[in-house]
Amino acid sequence: MSIRSDFIWMQGELIPFEEAQIHFLTPALHYGTGAFEGIRCYATNQGPAVFRHREHLQRLLNSVHILGITAFPYSLEELRKAVFLTIRANKFEQCYIRPLVYAGSGPLGLDLDQTEPRVGIAVWEWGTYLGREALERGVRMTISSFTRLHPNAQMTKAKISGNYANSVMAKTQATRLGFDEAIMLDPEGYVGECTGENLFVVRDGVIYTPPRASILEGVTRDALIALAGDLGYAVVEARISRDQLYVADEIFVSGTAAECVAVREVDFRSIGNGGMGPITRRLQQAFVDVVHGLNGRSDAWLDYVPAMETIELVGQVQ
Ligand SMILES: Cc1ncc(COP(=O)(O)O)c(C=O)c1O
Repeated sequence: MSIRSDFIWMQGELIPFEEAQIHFLTPALHYGTGAFEGIRCYATNQGPAVFRHREHLQRLLNSVHILGITAFPYSLEELRKAVFLTIRANKFEQCYIRPLVYAGSGPLGLDLDQTEPRVGIAVWEWGTYLGREALERGVRMTISSFTRLHPNAQMTKAKISGNYANSVMAKTQATRLGFDEAIMLDPEGYVGECTGENLFVVRDGVIYTPPRASILEGVTRDALIALAGDLGYAVVEARISRDQLYVADEIFVSGTAAECVAVREVDFRSIGNGGMGPITRRLQQAFVDVVHGLNGRSDAWLDYVPAMETIELVGQVQ
C-alpha cells in the first residue's frame, strides 16, 4: 500500500507531498492530542463520490469538541470543500481520506488552551484494509489480552489520536500471533469492538451488535444496520459475551477501512460454516452496491465530488 499523493491540504493550502512536514516539538506528536477521521471516496458511474461525507465530518467536529479544543476555526462546510479540493488536486477516482486536527504550535505542556489547533487532509489510493482474500474468505481473529477503552478514561465516541495506542498494541499483538485482527472486550468483559472496526454477530437469523456506550459509533455500522433492515433482518443492540462469539452462526465486522468482512475463526474456533455466512454475504453485497451508487440509499449517502472549477460554490445556499 502506498500513501503517496501529489498534494496534502494543510491549513487552507495544498502543499506538495514532500513538503507536508511538522516540527519535532508539535504537542500532538508527544501527547496524542489530535482527532482524525477515516473516510472513503468511491468510483461511481457519476464520478467519484464520498461515502457519508457529512456524517464523518460531523464526527470529526464531535471528536474535536470532546477532546476539548474550543477555538477550532473550520466549519463542516469548509472542511467538506477542502476534502473535495484535495481529491480533485490529486486526480483520484477513488481513495481513502484522512483529515487530522491536531494541537499544533505552543509550549510542550499539557494544557490544550496553550496550543493552537491545526488541520490537514491527506488522500491516498487504498485498496482493502484486511486484504482481498478477506473479503471473500473472511478473517481469523483473537480476543485481545488488551482491554478496550474505559469510557471515563479515554473518550470512546471520539477518534482521538492518543486513543489509538490501545488499538495499535492490540493489533500488533494479534498479527504477531498470526491472526488478522483482534476483538477487544470492554472493561466489563463484554465484546466491545475491534481495533478499527465494529462487530456484529448472527444467531438464528437475528443480528446482534454491542450497544454504543463504550464503542465508536461507526458510520459503516450505522449503514449496515439500515441495510440489514432493508433486507428484512432484525438488528438488536445487546451485550455479547466471548462465548457467544464462539457459538455464533456468523460474525462480521464493519469499518471504513475494512468495509464489511466476515470473521471465519475466533481463537482457533471456526465460526458457523468456517467461511462467509449467507447473511454476511448479502450485507456485503448491499454495501458494495450502495457505495458504488447502485442501491436505493446511494443518493442519500453519496456526496459526489464536484469539478475543480465549481468547488468554490460548495456549501453556498442554493
Ligand atoms: C475503534 C474503531 N471502531 C470502529 C470503527 C468503524 O467506524 P467507521 O465505520 O465509521 O469507519 C473504527 C474506524 O473508524 C474504529 O477506529
